[in-house]
Amino acid sequence: MLPRPMPIDERDLALLQRAVDLAERGRRTASPNPMVGAVVARDGRPLGEGWHERPGGPHAERAAIADCGDADPAGATMYVSLEPCCHQGRTPPCTDAILQAGIRRVVVAAGDPSEKVAGRGLGILRDEGVAVDVAAPDSAVGRAARLQNQPFRKHARTGIPWVMLKAAASLDGRLATHTDDSRWISGVASRELAHQWRADVDAVVVGIGTALADDPLLTARVPGVERQPRRVVFDSEARLPLTSRLVTSLDEAPVTVVASRAAPRSATDALESSGVEVVVAAGANEHSRVRSGLESLGQRGVTSVMIEGGSHLAGACFDAGMIDELRLFVAPIIVGGRQAPGVLGGQGVERIADAVRPVELSRTTVGDDLLTVARIKEW
Ligand SMILES: NC(=O)c1ccc[n+]([C@@H]2O[C@H](COP(=O)([O-])OP(=O)(O)OC[C@H]3O[C@@H](n4cnc5c(N)ncnc54)[C@H](OP(=O)(O)O)[C@@H]3O)[C@@H](O)[C@H]2O)c1
Repeated sequence: MLPRPMPIDERDLALLQRAVDLAERGRRTASPNPMVGAVVARDGRPLGEGWHERPGGPHAERAAIADCGDADPAGATMYVSLEPCCHQGRTPPCTDAILQAGIRRVVVAAGDPSEKVAGRGLGILRDEGVAVDVAAPDSAVGRAARLQNQPFRKHARTGIPWVMLKAAASLDGRLATHTDDSRWISGVASRELAHQWRADVDAVVVGIGTALADDPLLTARVPGVERQPRRVVFDSEARLPLTSRLVTSLDEAPVTVVASRAAPRSATDALESSGVEVVVAAGANEHSRVRSGLESLGQRGVTSVMIEGGSHLAGACFDAGMIDELRLFVAPIIVGGRQAPGVLGGQGVERIADAVRPVELSRTTVGDDLLTVARIKEW
């Protein structure tokens, strides 16, 4: 249990927000670790600041202490976006660094949900006489800190990656025409934004229907991107062609095929010989195989995925209760047709009273498209 939130003044809030902003710099490099930022300050004036850049690299707290340079952090306050860790990982515990530096007060924006830490980091600091304050969970900075690390928080608690579904639909909710033509529904600006999102996640996921129909590359075409997302195809029978752009571009980013036990050995062997990773999702139906496939990805350190369709796979994920966030572009075109697929195939809910209501919605325009971001679950 985290200690009860203590009063935190305006100056504290501004420095905590600075820590959250610093954490953001690790968005594309910190995974599977959380994004964390830290500021060491005396009387409200920063002495040093840091953030966690990548796994194996210094944690934000150590980086901020090192950044103090000649200014002695003893007696100062540390503002940190996430509860400091207290366990030996690839780097020593941050609580040790804080105690060694003589920090007298630690102010935290959000608790760490992982079992190894969850309140213990703060407990250790308190036991050693450090004053510890935690932002109220419903404060703006507390929420910002939690939202920033949704993938880490969900993965730490459940072992399953955070799942975001991205789709582009017509005004009448169609993903493609009845002939399966879907290029391009959304405008250029929306597609560019989707490339940025690919760079933000650990994996991009499609169903084999989309892989066969569109032969996509699924890389993040973003200048300067350091790490491409893993590309994942849900493909029960391992039908992904060896000549597909996914398989022939393995030098750009890895590919994983999530097959089922129904996949012929010859097909999985051929994919593996080409360098594709094949995982077998257990389960008697599509829902359980969606879950099992995502769990397998989680075990491989994938903390976030963006599902890019199609309708069939997205529907199975929705029916399995696996979607944490929907990002939907609606383009100003009308397609029509009973056979034209909607955003979510699958079964869906039976009654409107059972419809899923997002916990938070935001709407913006991107070029000529309307973008709705619907947060369905919060971790
Ligand atoms: N507008 C957009 O945003 C957008 C985005 C993506 C795609 N699209 C369009 O959508 C069309 C393809 O969509 P689609 O619905 O036919 O196919 P899909 O959802 O891409 O793929 C469906 C297939 O995935 C396989 N699969 C493997 N494991 C699964 C599981 N656990 N649950 C569900 N499916 C699983 C199944 O085939 P197996 O059983 O054989 O494995 C299933 O038939 C294309 O025309 C594409 O261009 C549009």
